Amino acid sequence: MEKYDIAILGAGPGGYVAAIRAAQLGVKVCVVEREEVGGTCLNWGCIPTKALVASVRSLEKATSGKEYGFEIEGAMRIHFDRMMTRKNEVVKRQVKGITSLFSSYGIRLHYGAGRLHDKNTIEITDSEGGKKQIYGDKIILATGSRPSDIPGVPVDGQSILSSNEALALKDIPASMLIIGAGAIGCEFASIFHALGSDVTLVELLPRVVPMEDEEISGILERELKKRKIKFYANSSVESVERENGTSIKAHLSNDRIISAEKVLVSVGRAFNVEDIGLEAVGIEQGARGEISVNNRMETNIKGVYAIGDVIGGMMLAHVASREGIVAVENALGGDETVDYSAVPSCIFFNPEIASVGYKEKEVVEEGKNIRVGRFPMRSLGMAHALGEISGLIKVICDSETDRILGVHMIGPHVTEIIHEAVLAIQSGYTGTDWGKMIHAHPTMSEALQEAVHDLHGAAIHLPQKQQR
Ligand code: NAI
Repeated sequence: MEKYDIAILGAGPGGYVAAIRAAQLGVKVCVVEREEVGGTCLNWGCIPTKALVASVRSLEKATSGKEYGFEIEGAMRIHFDRMMTRKNEVVKRQVKGITSLFSSYGIRLHYGAGRLHDKNTIEITDSEGGKKQIYGDKIILATGSRPSDIPGVPVDGQSILSSNEALALKDIPASMLIIGAGAIGCEFASIFHALGSDVTLVELLPRVVPMEDEEISGILERELKKRKIKFYANSSVESVERENGTSIKAHLSNDRIISAEKVLVSVGRAFNVEDIGLEAVGIEQGARGEISVNNRMETNIKGVYAIGDVIGGMMLAHVASREGIVAVENALGGDETVDYSAVPSCIFFNPEIASVGYKEKEVVEEGKNIRVGRFPMRSLGMAHALGEISGLIKVICDSETDRILGVHMIGPHVTEIIHEAVLAIQSGYTGTDWGKMIHAHPTMSEALQEAVHDLHGAAIHLPQKQQR
């Protein structure tokens, strides 16, 4: 039996990062993967959607030439197949990148479905049914998640899709009904609306992106209206039926009926905990089925760790990667924990959304006295130069200690700007400290500087009457 210091089940952004960190620390490590390295993030999530977002953003710019002072003569044609090919090539290149990183670090990759046989053994079944066992002195479970579905709306991969099938469409649908207005629903709404689909978003909770700050949801809702993306809050789809062979008739909980060529179900994700041998080893699971871990990423079984989506916390690639590093360092004798207080979250709608830390409602409910600084993009020179003036940056601080508690953004490039706010929260900055930082002009980051100054009524580019 091949023996490793650390054996990792799953090569997503949790597992592959953990493997590289283990190799950096000089131990013998292997990864078991049943599909392709990079997991959902690289193959079916973050990266392919961002490749499509890049295509549609270029398209949106090209079609607003009038505003920017140019004109394209003749018809502009969308080659959806070429966009998809480009997206596939971007993914392929990154997959190759990870496998060559593995080679450079001497990390062994076993293709096949892995299952815990005991707390130190993984049984691997390859695509031909061949079986072998490997030994891991320590084991890290990083099996991730898959799209969830809802009763009455069975995903068939043809007309009713999960995000996986939506990323493999051959043609642009004339119309698309998207169930769930969270991160995935909004990103696909943005992509297919830009490609000309008639998009409808349906959300169970009272607002779009309900996990974001309420004010951000309000601005996004206005942006949906501007783009004529229909949005129904407090609604779900109860059942669907096929209509004249080519479209789907969806019955909403509010008695509304919507017909669409394709339906996308984006209502969250389910943990990949089946058939991985959790019961065989006695690994405890939480109420939703997620693997339970302590703050060192260790399960109830000593030496077996779990990270990423499968542990159910913040289901984000970058969180999984940090958890992977922490798990490896602890497996090798360290005593690390993950700081979840400053995790950025990004949604690539147009305009983009990014946030970190507490939302206004959360801190108010906790009874904290707060100050809120705001700065609208339309007051920023750079936003006008870019021709993208929608959006806002909002900074929340504790009014007694002046410490930054949360930052929420909607607008151009905010998925990049957010990291300054992550550093501010993680480092315990006060609004006063942060306000002394000099920001380059002209940049979109100046909107953040102004929102920080606005905490103390000192934003330079806001009229006096708006100051507190
Ligand atoms: P999500 O949890 O972000 O959003 C799902 C939405 O569906 C929620 O707003 C929920 O209220 C709604 N919903 C649930 N059941 C419903 C029903 N029956 N009818 C109508 N609406 C319903 O999950 P999503 O968008 O599927 O994404 C999955 C995971 O991937 C999330 O954890 C998300 O944070 C992550 N992700 C992150 C991205 C990013 O950071 N850019 C991009 C895409 C996904």
